[in-house]
Amino acid sequence: MGLRKILTDKDPALHKVCRPVDKFDRRLHKLLDDMTETLADANGVGLAAPQVGILRRVVVVDTGDEILELVNPELVETSGEQCGAEGCLSVPGKYGLVKRPNYAKVRAQNRDGEWFEAEGEELIARCFCHELDHLDGIVYTEVMERFLTDEELERDEY
Ligand code: NI
Repeated sequence: MGLRKILTDKDPALHKVCRPVDKFDRRLHKLLDDMTETLADANGVGLAAPQVGILRRVVVVDTGDEILELVNPELVETSGEQCGAEGCLSVPGKYGLVKRPNYAKVRAQNRDGEWFEAEGEELIARCFCHELDHLDGIVYTEVMERFLTDEELERDEY
């Protein structure tokens, strides 16, 4: 286990399309372990491999109940809409107003290469979409309506 450095969105790694994982080996397991530790240390909800400088299609999400390890994830179903505050560990101290589906289902491989599905609403659906965007080099600031002001965040109204 080990903490990895989280890159900011000024780093070119955050703007590249990541390659699929093809080896489900110890190196991948170590990456997943480190990402989970790094996510917990940063108090985040989700973390994508490019945020720690690895250009592979790997994401970890803390649903509150469990840690989901998503390898080569694909969005297979979305519905509804939500518009709310969204942040990113690579854009520290800022939040933007981002429109996302209210429900999302992903299909992904686990650390051993077996396919499974995971679904979520609200924050989890937002997180799936946000993290999968990272794998295509998209940071939320590129799809947001606008940054939220401190005043809006304090009032929790936008
Ligand atoms: Ni992010």
